[in-house]
Amino acid sequence: MKSILLGYAPIDVVHAEFEELLRSAKESEESQLLGTLRKVHKHLVEHFAQEDKWMQETDFPAAGCHMDEHSRVLASAVQVVEQVQLGRFDIGFGFVDALVNWFPGHADYLDSALAVWMCKRRFGARPVVVHPRTPSETRQDSSLPAPVCTGQIA
Ligand SMILES: [Fe+2]
Ligand SMILES: [Fe+2]
Repeated sequence: MKSILLGYAPIDVVHAEFEELLRSAKESEESQLLGTLRKVHKHLVEHFAQEDKWMQETDFPAAGCHMDEHSRVLASAVQVVEQVQLGRFDIGFGFVDALVNWFPGHADYLDSALAVWMCKRRFGARPVVVHPRTPSETRQDSSLPAPVCTGQIA
């Protein structure tokens, strides 16, 4: 799962925690799954409460659909924990996969708008995210022209 950065540190920190929890949930054995899902649920309660609070305090225009999505995910998490307590590990692992698939879209479409909104309010500017190149992204095509320096050194 590739980390998602939105450029507003308080959101990015919480998202990194969530991604780490999802990674550990995916690697859980059945005997660990209930404990891990309880941690995921606790995280989601706090994660969503913080975002909902920012949206409410700042009159964020698109708060309704964003908060509704949070509510639906939380309701599912409660039901899934109940099912895993009854031994339905398949439902628990299915929920983890569903969260892994759901989160990038939620972050891209809803949390990113909140990150921009919060950055503009706090810093008066849009967030900037700088991604370091991975080795596979480094240019190795020698057919491309070499960069030319047009400046002069006195
Ligand atoms: Fe979020
Ligand atoms: Fe969110």
